[in-house]
Amino acid sequence: MMVSDYSRQRVLLHWMSAAVIVWTLASGFYAAGIDVPVPIKHWVAFINVSLTTVFIPFFVWRLFIFASHIRHVSVTALSIMERLVLLAHGLIYFTVSFVLVTGVLMMDRSIDVFGVLEIVQPLEDADLLAQFSAAHVWACVVLAALIALHVGAVIVHELCGHRILRRMSLRLCGNRSNERFE
Ligand code: HEM
Ligand code: HEM
Repeated sequence: MMVSDYSRQRVLLHWMSAAVIVWTLASGFYAAGIDVPVPIKHWVAFINVSLTTVFIPFFVWRLFIFASHIRHVSVTALSIMERLVLLAHGLIYFTVSFVLVTGVLMMDRSIDVFGVLEIVQPLEDADLLAQFSAAHVWACVVLAALIALHVGAVIVHELCGHRILRRMSLRLCGNRSNERFE
């Protein structure tokens, strides 16, 4: 199995998702701090809710590409390392999906997308909103840990001479690489 054969579309979606997720996690946790001025908290909440709502269809597209890729993979033919990589990537996809769903369901106001589109808040029940809000925050903590592990694994592979960053580069995407994780 070629873990490394990323299409141009997949590479573009990866770096776009990475930028949105890293920004939203960093700015969201920063704005949740007690010493942050209220206008900054409001600005970050407005930008992040808008940005991540626009991101949802791109993420669904990416999930669809990943699912179609998985359908053609024979798990028994994979090495232990390749299975672990697949599991880690699957966990990242699952956690991002959970963060997106809980983010939408925790909304206690309508979803204002950059002042251009307004989506009605899906739920009204205060208890449910509080539960989805808590789930959203914890899922964000788990996602931040998974991303830290993911970036750490990329660094370790690079230091060991496995050029995996090149496989996720626009310059080389579409060119088959024979590099594997053995
Ligand atoms: C910001 C620093 C990041 C770097 C340097 C990075 C680097 C990479 C590299 C080199 C690969 C290819 C690994 C391989 O060949 O198996 C990869 C794959 C992947 N990365 Fe990242 N990544 C970053 C952030 C993220 C973030 C924030 C996410 C969260 C969505 C993410 C999700 C994934 C997934 C799911 C894959 C598997 C390939 C795919 O399905 O598109 N990465 N990453
Ligand atoms: C991958 C996507 C997302 C990430 C990484 C993310 C991340 C975060 C983080 C780190 C926080 C701060 C948590 C804390 O209080 O410690 C937060 C809060 C919040 N998120 Fe998300 N989020 C995402 C998607 C969404 C979506 C789609 C919505 C709704 C459309 C949403 C709505 C909110 C709201 C309302 C808050 C509380 C901020 C406030 O209004 O005061 N999030 N998010």
